[in-house]
Amino acid sequence: MNLKQLRESVPTISENGPIYLDNACVTLRPQPVIDAINHYYTREPSCGGRSAHKWGMAVTRTEFSARDGIAKLVGAEGASNVVFSRNTTQAINQVAHGINWSKGDIVIISDKEHNSNSIPWRMQESVEVKVTKTNEDGRFDLEQFEQLCSEAGSNLRMVALSHSRNLDGTSIPAKECGKIAKDHDALYLLDAAQSVPHRPVNIREIGADFVAFSIHKMMGPSGMGALIGSPEGFDQLKSIAAGGQTVSHSSLDGFTFKPGAPHLEGGLGHYAGYYGTNSAVKILNELSMEQVHNREVEINTIISNGVKDLDGMSIIGPESAEERGGITSILMEGRDPHQFSMLLDEAFGIYARSGLHCVDPWFHENQTPRGSLRFSSYAYNTLDEAKLAVEAITELVEAIPRS
Ligand SMILES: Cc1ncc(COP(=O)(O)O)c(C=O)c1O
Repeated sequence: MNLKQLRESVPTISENGPIYLDNACVTLRPQPVIDAINHYYTREPSCGGRSAHKWGMAVTRTEFSARDGIAKLVGAEGASNVVFSRNTTQAINQVAHGINWSKGDIVIISDKEHNSNSIPWRMQESVEVKVTKTNEDGRFDLEQFEQLCSEAGSNLRMVALSHSRNLDGTSIPAKECGKIAKDHDALYLLDAAQSVPHRPVNIREIGADFVAFSIHKMMGPSGMGALIGSPEGFDQLKSIAAGGQTVSHSSLDGFTFKPGAPHLEGGLGHYAGYYGTNSAVKILNELSMEQVHNREVEINTIISNGVKDLDGMSIIGPESAEERGGITSILMEGRDPHQFSMLLDEAFGIYARSGLHCVDPWFHENQTPRGSLRFSSYAYNTLDEAKLAVEAITELVEAIPRS
């Protein structure tokens, strides 16, 4: 499948749908993904991993194929490195609530984290959360981060950073951060919600202990995500979903958890979700993530160049679109991003997102409480769509004076 065929396979845009540029929130689904979900419900609607009949075996096979596909996509060793979750948030919560913390433990995050990679750590009573701040130029400050790690000393237990930010599309030097975390004997979690869906990521090269992402942000079904780690790393976590399928032995006197991933995946799985995941990951493995990334940067370049000099507009992050992936996040002096978002839909059929994007602390710190207007693309978006988005914003800026 190439990018053109991918676009044609997405029913909601191939049939004169809107210009959808809200992909950092959730992506659209190609027909094969929808068909795979439908196949589960109409042809094999049963339990995986336990039933020996034909339907059950088919579900088990599909589930393993989905795990294998994910492992391949992110450069993990294999299916046993994948824990399915509902989303990135649940995957991070599994780690944050699963660690046996000690009083005084320190977790380092950055000032551009999504609430999902901030609140779970801040909820831990014995943990102190420290924040590494972004450089003046909008880039990750490796020196300051290393300094913070050194100051934390032996209390540093976890470094939890978003690989790419939904705020502005910028990325951190993930491998270097991992090396620093390891030099300080800390665990390293990567929130990969905005990286794995958009560009090549090799988890083994980066050296993270845990990697969390959402499959609904990569053309898969809603309510599907993954936590990648090692079976030994999973063994260190207390399950937040203990119960059926998590134990190898259970009697009235006690129980023994299964080792590795299974003890974190209690209860009946989201089988239809596994079918859709299997299909989405197959498409991405075929497309190549390099192609996905390049298309998004082309789109971002057009939008960034088109809006950067408009009255009152400034783009969050470094000037180069290459450094901001598929995200153009625009601060609007004297104008309301929500109004723009609504008018873009009503007058031009363009779907963009306005507000704080769950990165509230960054907007509060920067005294921009209305948030930004954010365009986020995916592999099926076209350069023509980017040009239309620029024309639409230009028209709105000319029509709506600053307040
Ligand atoms: C960087 C980042 N982390 C975490 C999340 C949370 O993802 P989910 O809502 O799928 O759990 C998002 C969602 O936009 C995100 O962009």
